[in-house]
Amino acid sequence: MPNLLSRGLFNLFFGARRKALQGLPGPQPGVLGNVGDFLGVPPWDVCARYGREYGGVTLVWMGPSPALVLNDPSVIEEVMETRRLEFEKGNVNEQVRPTVTDDTSFIAKQGEDWAGKRRTDPMAQPWSGDWLAAQVGPLRASITRSLEALLTQGPLDLTPALRRLTFDALAVTLVGEHLPDPAYDDFMLLAKGADARIKANLPLRFVRFPKGYEAAKTRYYGQFLERVRAARRTPTPGGQDLLSWTLREMPEMDDQVLAHLLGSSFYGGVFSCSTTLVGAFHQLQKSPDAEARLAAEAAALAEAPPSWEVLRGARWTEAVAYEALRILPAVRIFTRTPSADTKLAGVTLPAGTTLLISNQHLHRDPAHWTAPDTFDPSRWLDGGTARDPLGSGHFFPFGRGPRACVAAPLAMVFLQTALATLAARARVHVDSTEPFEEDFFFGVVLPKGVTGKFVARPVVTARQSVG
Ligand code: HEM
Repeated sequence: MPNLLSRGLFNLFFGARRKALQGLPGPQPGVLGNVGDFLGVPPWDVCARYGREYGGVTLVWMGPSPALVLNDPSVIEEVMETRRLEFEKGNVNEQVRPTVTDDTSFIAKQGEDWAGKRRTDPMAQPWSGDWLAAQVGPLRASITRSLEALLTQGPLDLTPALRRLTFDALAVTLVGEHLPDPAYDDFMLLAKGADARIKANLPLRFVRFPKGYEAAKTRYYGQFLERVRAARRTPTPGGQDLLSWTLREMPEMDDQVLAHLLGSSFYGGVFSCSTTLVGAFHQLQKSPDAEARLAAEAAALAEAPPSWEVLRGARWTEAVAYEALRILPAVRIFTRTPSADTKLAGVTLPAGTTLLISNQHLHRDPAHWTAPDTFDPSRWLDGGTARDPLGSGHFFPFGRGPRACVAAPLAMVFLQTALATLAARARVHVDSTEPFEEDFFFGVVLPKGVTGKFVARPVVTARQSVG
């Protein structure tokens, strides 16, 4: 709590602003507002604490500017769904734009800019479900190949190991094959450039790109453009990757736009999916029964031809993925900003007020979940996924409403295939079950210091594992 002088100074300078928002609970601001609460603490932990201490809507001050932290599902629904056009998305658009390009819906402005981009996004087409259903086999093959390399290695930092596995697997779904190492290096360099801009305390014009950024960008997106042109010249008959599907189904799509969409998809998927896997294996290390049940189901799946139908029937694998997304969501903070003065939560908010929405508190709200801090995949069985569907009030790892993650279905197929493929052949041993340190990279939670190794399992047939 700021001292009396600090609180007095804040009121002296900004008392009128405060009065306009009186009625909203929140911590006492000092001369710098409540910025101190966020120093050295992950912002999602602060938002969750506010939820516990002040309820669904908390007023905080970022220096002289008000911000609301939303933990009330119905207010979040207004902002992200029913009145979403009144609230511009996030404040990292300019930070990530050079890396993800202008063609992705991710940084589009609300309204027609976003709607137009989403309409032409290959992942949001009537045929996208058929493309996705065809990815189980290629994903399984890619993950098996990555696992074979991981099994030959000693102790590992699991975050970068699973990040590369994810990059390779997504490459197969997007362009039909793995990309060479230099493409991964370019991908990471561009991500670091964006991340430095997200974290900078300086105006962006003072933030330097890492050395070699422009050349890496030219190479990174250039390779996708070459692939698009080559695939147009010589289509792969029956090609199941997104590039082949898009050229068949949407031949009018501009080559450059498609190259940008393919390249930028990795930014949406690689960090978020791999962070989720790290969280899942960390939790499974603490839950031997859940791990054993996953291994048994995975052994049965490994004996069946890889298909969408078979994967869909693997209810425990799905439950493990859901539970990892609940207890350790990879994307934990969303921001929105009213474009004009607007009424919300009983007060008039000035245009530009920051709204911080975090799923962390609601995903573990004891008023909603039984034993919320326990990793218990069984909560998702027997109607659990229908009680708390993706995008509902207490479970929104992919966001909420029409602007929720366009690739959530791909992420789910990836996560389930990865969990099943890895668990069938190996046990992912995690060295420590203590909570790991959570950093932030490219807007996504970054697990730090989660070490472990992949230990080959004796080959168990489904019959043995069940009987
Ligand atoms: C576990 C994995 C993933 C998580 C947790 C996740 C989470 C999210 C969230 C929370 C949003 C909405 C953000 C907001 O409303 O402010 C979002 C949007 C988006 N995600 Fe994902 N995502 C994942 C995987 C992916 C993958 C695999 C891709 C691409 C291949 C992707 C591409 C996108 C794009 C393009 C958007 C913007 C959608 C729009 O504004 O229309 N994501 N994601």
